[in-house]
Amino acid sequence: MIEIRGNVEGEETADAVVLGVGADRAFDEAGRWVLERMPRLERVMDEAEFTGKVGQSLSVAGSGDVPYGRVVFIGLGPAPDAEQVRRAAGTGARALMKSVTVATTLHATGVEGAPEAVGLGFALGTYTFTRHKTEPKPSLTTTLVLLDGSEDDIAAAHRGRSIAAGVNLARDLINTPAMEKAPEALAQVARDLSDRAGLRIRVFDEAEIVAERLGGLRGVSLGASNPPRLVELRYEPDDAKGFVAFVGKGIVFDSGGLSIKPADGMETMKTDMSGAAAVFGAIQVIAELGLPVKVLGITPLTENMPGGSAMRPGDVLEIRNGKTIEVLNTDAEGRLVLADGLSLAAEEGPDLIIDVATLTGACKVALGEKIAGLFGADEPATLVLDAAAGAGERVWRMPLPEDYRKNIDSDVADMKNTGPRWGGAINAALLLKEFVGEVPWVHLDIAGPARASDAEHYIQKGGTGFGVRTLVEVARRMSGA
Ligand code: BES
Ligand code: MN
Ligand code: ZN
Repeated sequence: MIEIRGNVEGEETADAVVLGVGADRAFDEAGRWVLERMPRLERVMDEAEFTGKVGQSLSVAGSGDVPYGRVVFIGLGPAPDAEQVRRAAGTGARALMKSVTVATTLHATGVEGAPEAVGLGFALGTYTFTRHKTEPKPSLTTTLVLLDGSEDDIAAAHRGRSIAAGVNLARDLINTPAMEKAPEALAQVARDLSDRAGLRIRVFDEAEIVAERLGGLRGVSLGASNPPRLVELRYEPDDAKGFVAFVGKGIVFDSGGLSIKPADGMETMKTDMSGAAAVFGAIQVIAELGLPVKVLGITPLTENMPGGSAMRPGDVLEIRNGKTIEVLNTDAEGRLVLADGLSLAAEEGPDLIIDVATLTGACKVALGEKIAGLFGADEPATLVLDAAAGAGERVWRMPLPEDYRKNIDSDVADMKNTGPRWGGAINAALLLKEFVGEVPWVHLDIAGPARASDAEHYIQKGGTGFGVRTLVEVARRMSGA
């Protein structure tokens, strides 16, 4: 993990410095200081048409009397907010992967929450997944120096780094090939996490999944050779001010089952456990920050495979809460495992349930690759929308119209697992709603933003860890912190 600290008296040199620039080349003190010592810099900026617009960046070698090997200017635009600072820090981190020590003044931009945003954005930007490269090229950056940073600034940046560590844990799990993350392997990751963070854990094995009547998870697992698991993680501080349950979809690979996907639709389906990964990452952060809120994390884990004993279209599954689902398309498996997870969560009577799932291609069609769909009643929806906005994750509210419920009426069971193609993300959400009883509930469909096709600012190509920051921010707000 990257070290974040202030500069000690007299220390001046760093391999690089990252400086924010406001619109129309509004430099801070450090920027002006560098500019005075590098007289040709303004011409370079003219040529590059660098003005300080949001998203612009300019990297130049530091000349003789500047104590930095490289200077990176990053546009913050006319009215930067915390997300601009996160992105600027991430852009700086990605531009400086070969610099060991990086200094910055981004924490001092005067934006509310800037120091935490710098720690978060920078630690996200340095992330790489190189486990399977024979010549790995990870970021070489070991240290971020907040120039003239106060103790409070450093502490806030460390909080940001903790959040990034949770996001990066989720990214690692998502980027791991499915062959290395069978349900039991992910359960072991959860055991290690619970040891590290002082959580309680229960792992349901195959026999317990049957005994506990988790018929959705059991049904989806039938076609796979690797047995399913369900993980329950509990963080229960003495001073808890509220109780939230997180449920994460943990399909370690989604082939579609007998309703098999075409080859190109399967390429990225190791991503289909991103909801579970977000739950693991968020609980790690919440425990590390010591937030006074009780958290229950539930992750049903299985592959969705077309083996000889796989569930078939037309089969009927009985879910934990006693309701039955006719499986018409085995590729609509996420809602089946979540139905069990939500039932278990509802039994515990939390103040709020949030589920996170790469649930529908339809949601990705509707909102694209960068925005998640949010479903739920007004009050909990508002809480989670505000938390997501504060955390810098892009979420858009979708409707849950009562009269669409008939779309999933079944001839033989209480409901069916597919409806018409139209409104596919809504039909899925309406099925989930059947399993939360009276508990306030929000569903996040992260099919789009769970993966990034390209790197930008603090995002690397591949698993994004989307959801971790929103879940942590919800816990923060519930705890009044
Ligand atoms: N895991 C997929 C959803 C998905 C698709 C996530 C693309 C990310 C990118 C889910 O299990 C699925 O296959 N959903 C089907 C549902 C359909 C059969 C009703 C879909 O969206 O096509
Ligand atoms: Mn599927
Ligand atoms: Zn799926």
